[in-house]
Amino acid sequence: MRPLSPLFTAIRATSGWPGPYRLVDIGCGLGYLVRWLAATDALGADVELVGVDLDAALVGEAGRLARAEVLNCRFVHADAFALRQAATVYVSTGVLHHFRGPALDRFFQTQAASPAAAFCHFDIAATRLAPIGAWIFHRARMRHPLGRHDGVVSAQRAHSDETLLRAADVPGIRPLLYEPQRLANPFCTTVRPVIGVRPPLEAPFRLALGRAARHLVGPEYLAQAPR
Ligand SMILES: C[S@@+](CC[C@H](N)C(=O)[O-])C[C@H]1O[C@@H](n2cnc3c(N)ncnc32)[C@H](O)[C@@H]1O
Repeated sequence: MRPLSPLFTAIRATSGWPGPYRLVDIGCGLGYLVRWLAATDALGADVELVGVDLDAALVGEAGRLARAEVLNCRFVHADAFALRQAATVYVSTGVLHHFRGPALDRFFQTQAASPAAAFCHFDIAATRLAPIGAWIFHRARMRHPLGRHDGVVSAQRAHSDETLLRAADVPGIRPLLYEPQRLANPFCTTVRPVIGVRPPLEAPFRLALGRAARHLVGPEYLAQAPR
């Protein structure tokens, strides 16, 4: 899975990060990402897949679904930043827009202060089409009015590329954004990840991405981007 699989290829190729590895999904909810990674064996047998959420009901259901699907992954009811076992890579989906201002800064600082090699957080791309797309998607997929409302509000609260690149720019981390707005087709891009790697991992990560590395930008992109 792009760019997670190349991220682990880079980690395996770089001295300093011997396996086995652990991926921790922060705020996993029902565990869609972790269960999909387990079902497709996208990252390899040396990567333990762990979903973590503060909501006990969601974690319980994620675990039940994983058992029903006979998947090799686990779900933990906890604060993802208070786990006893460290993550090699932190990921999340649809979580970043819930953290704002100092809380967003702390979100990235905490990961940088951990022994993790990298993080990769997928969230809604703040395009002008995002609220309309979210309205259509949630109208089609959600039955409950709250779910429909929340989907549109989330799209309206999506962080700009600039906000994410600045917040992820913390000591010890090279922040990168995959498919920023200027390089993306707004009709196709609904979510895009902000990535942080320990500096020695950037070159092998770009190598592992191959041609797709042209979609990756660092904070220098902000100097060129219209404000
Ligand atoms: C919008 S939901 C995202 C659910 C899921 N990732 C998905 O895509 O369906 C955000 C989740 O993050 C969880 N959360 C927020 N901070 C957390 C933390 N520090 N540790 C674990 N879970 C957290 C909340 O409990 C909530 O379930």
